[in-house]
Amino acid sequence: MKLAFILDPLPRLDPGHDSTVAIMEAAQRLGHEVFVAELQHLSVIEGKAWAKLFPLTLQPVVLEEGLWRAAPDWYEVGAGEWRDLEDMTAVFMRKDPPVTVRYLYATYILELIDPEKTLVINQPQGLREANEKMYTLQFYGVMPETLVSLDKELIRDFVERHQAAVLKPLGGKAGEGILFLEPGDRNFNSLVEISTHQGQEPVMVQRFLPEAKDGDKRIILLDGEPIGAVNRIPTGREFRGNMAVGGRVAPTEITPREREICQAVGPKLRRDGLYFVGIDVIGGYLTEVNVTSPTGIREIDRLGGVSLGERVINWLVARG
Ligand SMILES: Nc1ncnc2c1ncn2[C@@H]1O[C@H](COP(=O)(O)OP(=O)(O)O)[C@@H](O)[C@H]1O
Ligand SMILES: [Mg+2]
Repeated sequence: MKLAFILDPLPRLDPGHDSTVAIMEAAQRLGHEVFVAELQHLSVIEGKAWAKLFPLTLQPVVLEEGLWRAAPDWYEVGAGEWRDLEDMTAVFMRKDPPVTVRYLYATYILELIDPEKTLVINQPQGLREANEKMYTLQFYGVMPETLVSLDKELIRDFVERHQAAVLKPLGGKAGEGILFLEPGDRNFNSLVEISTHQGQEPVMVQRFLPEAKDGDKRIILLDGEPIGAVNRIPTGREFRGNMAVGGRVAPTEITPREREICQAVGPKLRRDGLYFVGIDVIGGYLTEVNVTSPTGIREIDRLGGVSLGERVINWLVARG
């Protein structure tokens, strides 16, 4: 197969952590051709989505003392060439959030790819549909009590009712802008004003789940089915479990309750063409559905001795 990956500049990727690199490595290992491009390499030529594609050769990471070690020169790119993306078997849209206007334009370009010829993972329409915080609300039955508003009084009432809450900017990722709120906080008004940009932008406010101290579980779903999970446990004085803010990763199982959550979410993900997704679950409640560029497979692989990247590639092969 020929596979194209739309991603952030390679020097910014972390080969021992990023799922994108894990999937590209698996593709190479299984004998497929890997190409990369950035957002600025996308164009529409005579009504077709094209990209300046650079062939990629990876030096795979190796497991040393339980951690992935990458060579300093872990990748090599060949000369770029403009190609019709329909020459590819699949295109992986793996640009990291935030979802900017530029990102949205890229999804409109990828939308022009004929799904009969080339599978786009995840589907551009699904990527636009699924703001990572708001999309979760479509599964409210498995979510903790949640409010989305920019109204200070509504937010105050909600926090008073639940005594403790977590505020989340709707466009955030990796723990950015996540705040712990309690009614007695002397900065309460100011925190809400800053987060809502002075009452201009709604934010998500969610009941604080004390179980968060035991971990925020990342479950990876492929085509709507759970294929692996890793727990992220807050460390030190931090209440957020994100790996990006120092969350410690630990092996874990998928519980029956979490399987129920996957069953609630899976069919809709498939319908929306969201084939590769990472959901976050705290204390048996769904808190986030990550669709743009979810991480976790490097950690699941090294803790469990598996290769989720190979699962993804084999799934693609089986789709034919
Ligand atoms: N309802 C909640 N109760 C307690 N902690 C939470 C809650 N929601 C999120 N958190 C903490 O905040 C972190 C980030 O939240 P999340 O909703 O996953 O946003 P993102 O990962 O996009 O920044 C989580 O890893 C978790 O530790
Ligand atoms: Mg998260």
